[in-house]
Amino acid sequence: MSTNPPFQLTRTLPEDATDAALRSDVLHGLTRSPKTLPPKWFYDARGSELFDEITTLEEYYPTRAEREILVARAPEIAAATGARTLVELGSGSSDKTRHLLESFADLAAYVPVDVSESALRGAARTLRAEHPGLAVHALVADFTRGLDLPATPGPRLVAFLGGTIGNLLPDERAAFLKAVRELLSPGDFLLLGTDLVKDESTLIAAYDDAAGVTAAFNKNVLSVVNRELGADFDPGAFEHVALWDPREEWIEMRLRSTVPQTVKIPALDLAVDFEAGEELRTEVSAKFRQERVREELGAAGLELTRWWTDEAGRFALSLSTPATA
Ligand code: SAH
Ligand code: AVI
Repeated sequence: MSTNPPFQLTRTLPEDATDAALRSDVLHGLTRSPKTLPPKWFYDARGSELFDEITTLEEYYPTRAEREILVARAPEIAAATGARTLVELGSGSSDKTRHLLESFADLAAYVPVDVSESALRGAARTLRAEHPGLAVHALVADFTRGLDLPATPGPRLVAFLGGTIGNLLPDERAAFLKAVRELLSPGDFLLLGTDLVKDESTLIAAYDDAAGVTAAFNKNVLSVVNRELGADFDPGAFEHVALWDPREEWIEMRLRSTVPQTVKIPALDLAVDFEAGEELRTEVSAKFRQERVREELGAAGLELTRWWTDEAGRFALSLSTPATA
C-alpha cells in the first residue's frame, strides 16, 4: 500500500482573509458609481451547485464545446506536454478534467485550486473513487492573489478551463497571466479555455436561460452578502440582466433594482441606496478571438503553440509555454 496520502487539502488563506476580502470588495464596490461586485463571491456551496446546473442547460454551450475539444485532444495535450503535475485553477467540480486525467499516463499529482472549499471536497470524493492512486493536493486559494504551489514533479501543466479567464477585467487578466508565467519553468505549459466571439442571440441566451438558473446564480451573490455581512438585500427586489457589449466584446451580468430601496449592511456600518432601475454589475464574461489570446499571452511572456476549437467554432483551447528570449 502507498504511504502517500491520496488527498490533502490546504487553505492558503488565513481563516479571516475571505471575510476581510469580502468586506473590502463590498465596501468599495457598493460605494462607487456604477456599483459593482466581483464574480468570485458567487461561489459559496449554493453558487457552486447553481453553476454546475448552468453547465447542463441547453442554452449554455461553453461546457459542452470545451468538453468536445478535451475529448478529441486530451491524448495530444498529454503527448505535447509530458506533464507529471496537473495544476487546475478554478477547478470547481473537476468534471471535465477527467478527460485529461485519463490521457496522462505518467501523472504524479493533481493540484486543483479554487476559492470554493465545498467544490474542492466534492471533486475530491469523485476523483478518489476514479483515480485511487493519484496524489491530490487541493488548494483553497484565490488564484488572483499569488499561488504557493506544492513541490511536485515536473513538467507542470497549468490548466485554466471553462472560460473563467473571461471573468477577469483586462488589467486583472494581464496581471494574472504574468503571475501564471512566473509559476512556469521552461518545458511547462498553460492550457487555457477561452469562449469565442459569436452572434449576440446565442450569447444572450447562454446568460439568460429560460429556466432562470442563471438569474438564480446571479442573485445568489446577494444571499452571500446577507449571510456573511448581515445585509438585508431582498433578492426579489432585483432582476437579472444579461447584455452584450460589442465594444468590449464581453457579456455583462447585472442586477437591476426594481424599486427605490435602501439596503443595510451592518457588518460594514453601511446603508446603500438604489434608485429604481439602478444596476449593479456582478460579472463580465469576455469572449475572445485568436489574435487577442495570442497577444495577451505574448504580453505575459507566453508563446501560443497550439489552438484547438470545437467543430462549431464556439470555444477554443490553447496551449502556451514560456517564450524563449
Ligand atoms: N473550471 C470549471 C469551473 C468553472 S466555474 C469548469 O470549467 O466548469 C469558476 C470556478 O472558479 C468556480 O469553481 C469558482 O469557485 C472558481 N473561482 C472564481 N474566482 C476565483 C478566484 N479568484 N480564485 C480561485 N477560484 C475562483
Ligand atoms: C465560470 N465562468 C466562465 C462562467 C461564464 O460563462 O462566464 C460563469 C457564468 N456566469 C453566468 N453563467 C456562467
